[in-house]
Amino acid sequence: MSQLLDARGLVRVYTARRGLLGRPARVRAVDGVSLRVKRGETLGIVGESGSGKSTLGRVLLGIDAAQKGTVHIDGAPMPAFGTPGWRALRARIQMVYQDPLAALDRRLSVAHQLREPLDIHHLGDGESRSARISEVMQSVGLRPDQAGKFPHELSGGQRQRVVIARALMTEPELLVCDEPVSALDVSIQAQVVNLLADLQRDRGLGMVFISHDLKVVRNLCDRVAVMYLGRIVEEGPAEAVFADPRHPYTQALISSVPQPGRAANSRIILQGEPPDPGNRPPGCAFHPRCPMAEDSCRRAIPETRAVGGARSAACHLVAPAALTEPA
Ligand SMILES: Nc1ncnc2c1ncn2[C@@H]1O[C@H](COP(=O)(O)OP(=O)(O)OP(=O)(O)O)[C@@H](O)[C@H]1O
Ligand SMILES: [Mg+2]
Repeated sequence: MSQLLDARGLVRVYTARRGLLGRPARVRAVDGVSLRVKRGETLGIVGESGSGKSTLGRVLLGIDAAQKGTVHIDGAPMPAFGTPGWRALRARIQMVYQDPLAALDRRLSVAHQLREPLDIHHLGDGESRSARISEVMQSVGLRPDQAGKFPHELSGGQRQRVVIARALMTEPELLVCDEPVSALDVSIQAQVVNLLADLQRDRGLGMVFISHDLKVVRNLCDRVAVMYLGRIVEEGPAEAVFADPRHPYTQALISSVPQPGRAANSRIILQGEPPDPGNRPPGCAFHPRCPMAEDSCRRAIPETRAVGGARSAACHLVAPAALTEPA
């Protein structure tokens, strides 16, 4: 089956001024990322704050332009941002952000917000648009009488349902969700995650699910990619990666999963200096925090290698597939 999303060698560097008088620093937010998503597949992206997850999400949709690398959707290269080709493609690839209130227009009713994507993409006529609004509202668990409501009249969970409905109006094939439940009450998070899982399965969507909640990613995603300082350091089937993480960073992340009783949305906090994309350590970027680091880790950047079982890792110390699996 052809890949729905096929990204290769993506690089996004920002030039940011550090402090008031600081000299501009180059921040390699995404530093050579390749990934693929098939139809009906959910890829989770995890990693600490600043690892480049949101930047990657934007680059995948062409909202932010990569300086290097390519994105293909269904075999066709992503058109440049803002061109007619890109605008047409946006009907097929949609994004759900963390903060529903920021994503919605406070002055417009629910029905109005849901009608907009149909107007923009010239889909259907008046009657079929109204029918589509009702159908999608129902599919995300909103009541018909909520069509006339404004964002401030809804709860956080209901607002995020509106955002998801809006993303679904054009029948997209790919949904990129960036921390879609992080801003919601813990009690509502599971409902919205379940909703996304149902929609993804029923509609055969390809989904990229960015989250710092490893438990949600484990439950929801087919595959998971672990990011550290702009790179994917480990990738593979979610179940296998969580059960048997190979990269020392993944091992540290998983050991930091909140235990029962701790806040479910607490941030991942590991030992050592948090990663600073403006100041990338030489060699393996994780080496200053890695309990297993050797001399070679300080010198050479590890390449991504197959480590068996459709998995890959970028670590000098993880044995490649040829050594772990019989030929
Ligand atoms: N528009 C921008 N201009 C300059 N620097 C940016 C910009 N967007 C992101 N960055 C920098 O790129 C790095 C990666 O940021 P990004 O938001 O992608 O990380 P993230 O993994 O999504 O983090 P979080 O978990 O906090 O959402 C950070 O150092 C950030 O400061
Ligand atoms: Mg982010």
